[in-house]
Formats: sequence, C-alpha cells, structure tokens
Amino acid sequence: MRGSLLVDHIGELVTNDGRDGDPLGIRRDAALLVEDGQVAWTGPARDAPAADRRIDAGGAAVLPGFVDSHAHLVFAGDRAAEFAARMAGEPYTGGGIRTTVGATRAASDDDLRATVGRLRAEMLRQGTTTVEIKSGYGLNVADEARSLRIAAEFTEDTTFLGAHVVPAEYADRPDDYVGMVCGPMLAAAAPYARWIDVFCERGAFDADHARAILACGQAAGLGVRLHANQLGPGPGVQLGVELGAASVDHCTHLTDADIDVLAGSETVATLLPGAEFSTRSPYPDARRLLDAGVTVALATDCNPGSSYTSSMPFCVALAVREMRMTPAEAVWAATAGGAAALRRTDVGRLTPGARADLIVLDAPSHLHLAYRPGVPLIRQVLHNGVPR
Ligand code: NIG
Ligand code: FE
Repeated sequence: MRGSLLVDHIGELVTNDGRDGDPLGIRRDAALLVEDGQVAWTGPARDAPAADRRIDAGGAAVLPGFVDSHAHLVFAGDRAAEFAARMAGEPYTGGGIRTTVGATRAASDDDLRATVGRLRAEMLRQGTTTVEIKSGYGLNVADEARSLRIAAEFTEDTTFLGAHVVPAEYADRPDDYVGMVCGPMLAAAAPYARWIDVFCERGAFDADHARAILACGQAAGLGVRLHANQLGPGPGVQLGVELGAASVDHCTHLTDADIDVLAGSETVATLLPGAEFSTRSPYPDARRLLDAGVTVALATDCNPGSSYTSSMPFCVALAVREMRMTPAEAVWAATAGGAAALRRTDVGRLTPGARADLIVLDAPSHLHLAYRPGVPLIRQVLHNGVPR
C-alpha cells in the first residue's frame, strides 16, 4: 500500500531500541509513522507528522510483531492420539517423527501448501510477522527439496532439516544416510534454504554426525542452527557454539559448562516452552541463562508432535509463569530475541528503517500478554506496513 500511515495515540510503544538501559525501549503517549513498508519515525504523539492515513490505537500498547524463529510447518496428518497417550503417562521420545514422515511423503504439494498457509495465517492472527520454517518430514531427496520449495513460498528463513531422524529405510545404516544428507539431499535442498539444522540427540544424530552434516551445510553457504539438549544433557549446545551457530534450540538440559560456553559466544539460546508443555516435561530455567548474560529467544516449535501451538503469546505466558522470565524479558525474547536468532536486524524492533511489522494489543501494556493468558489480545497486525 502506497502513502504514509500514522499509528497514533499509542499508550505504550515497545521499540526494543535498548536505549536508556531499558531493553524494551518503551515510549509512552507515542506515535509511529510508516512509509514504504518501513518505520519512518517514532516520537511523542503531540509531535506526530501528518500522514495519508491514520490508525488510532486509543491508548493501547503497540509492539513489534513476534519473530517465531523455530517452526516445522511442512507436514501432513496430526498426532493427537500420541498427545493423548502422553497426557496419560507415555514419555516423548521423538519416535512419532517417522509417523509424520510417512504422511508427508504421501501428501500432494497442494495439501502441504495448504497446511503451511493455514498455520501461517493462524500465526499472523496471533501477531507473528516473521517465521522460520524447517523441512524435516520428507527425509528423502525429493521430499526434502519440495518441503523447502513450499516453505520458501512463505518465508525467507527456510531451514534444511534432512537430519531430523534417520528414516526407517536407513535404520541399519545411519552412516549411509549421513552421506546422502551431505551429498544429493543437500544439493537439492540448498537452493531453497538459508539455514541448516540437525536434531543432535540420543536416538537421532550424535555429535560426529551432526558436525559432519553442519560442516557440509556451511560449505554450501547455509547458516547453522541446531536442536540441542532437548531430551537430556548432550554435546549439542557446545557443538553449536563451536560451529558459530546463530542459535541452539530447546536447551532444556544444560550443564554449567554449557551455559559458560554460550555466555562467551554470539549464539542465541532459543527456548521452546510449547514443547515442554505438550510433552509434559520440566521447563528450561531461563533465569540461569539470562543471569549468565546469554541472549535468549522464545519460539513456538510449531509441529504436529511435540508442540502443536502456533501462539507466541502462549509461549510468552509460559516463559513468565514457568521459566522465571520477567514479562519484559519474555516479550523481548519473542521479538528482538527471535530476530537475533535469525541474525536479522530489520525485524523485532520498531525503530526508523525497520520493517513496519507491528501489533496493536487490546491492552494498555505488554504485561497483559502474560497477565491475561489464553486471551486473544491481538487487536490489529501490520505486516510490511499493511494492515492484515
Ligand atoms: O523440535 N525434536 C525434534 N523435532 C521436533 C519434534 C518433531 C516431532 O515430534 O514431530 C521438536 O520438538
Ligand atoms: Fe523443533
């Protein structure tokens, strides 16, 4: 949409500009001008410039759109029965991934595209304006490539997760599978991918396999991210830091050494409380990471197995209630933290030059996202400056 747009009468504007020792960079009684899909100006409402169009926020809070830096949206089928079994006491092992692989391989392109579109729309309604989307339920050359081709229709942040688990047909020859991932699968996937990811966990890929796969991805020009330390302690976090990963994700089981290594690095720790909720697992302790100076992001991990939520507000509420984050830390982690996890500076903040991705809340402050859990508080979303 051409022309300028003024968002006026903002009671609380979260800019994430980090000025004055306030990470959220809150401005009160503010206004924000959008031009050409970008934030052109922010300042006191009384100084607001004229504009072609105007949105009256009516004293509500305005936040950057959420940046969901970890989601598995390309899949078919659901695993509601597996969820019900877990709620009756079964543990989560990741074994259900192969069920989704079977359903995904059998699905048409249009079915997969419709699922991604439905979930992307669900996210947008809940304030998510940037999402990362992984492959990982194809696990052969053709189905990994098409998963990423479809993901790329919806986001720039596509991630090749051919090393999610070893598929059944390679069960007795995992080395051959790793060779295939690094060879023809990577070659077919790389044109559609920005990132490479590995599920580094007992029962999935060990540190040697993960290192080999991530190194091949790096050589092909992909950035590194990792599923690490989800189901138990392990080498994933330290491997991620060694390889300069943008983010290590889950971080549920961390030793003091893991935290020290993260604190001395540029790698973000992305916490995914929807997974702990949906697998009835202990939550990670975000306070330990924050107090050590680690950059923390929050994301949904939206997938049909371990975390079938698309809601960043739900993750913010869980992080505050269960992971010892303050509401301000959780909101920062769900916006600027997600941007850091994707190494992006154009989203996750509302400062001049940033993409005009913002949420008008049905509430006077960001505190309400955790204070009013489960309530649909997203009144309006602007994506690239366009009302959705
Ligand atoms: O991030 N842990 C690995 N992958 C997903 C779960 C995938 C599934 O269960 O289908 C996760 O939790
Ligand atoms: Fe995941």
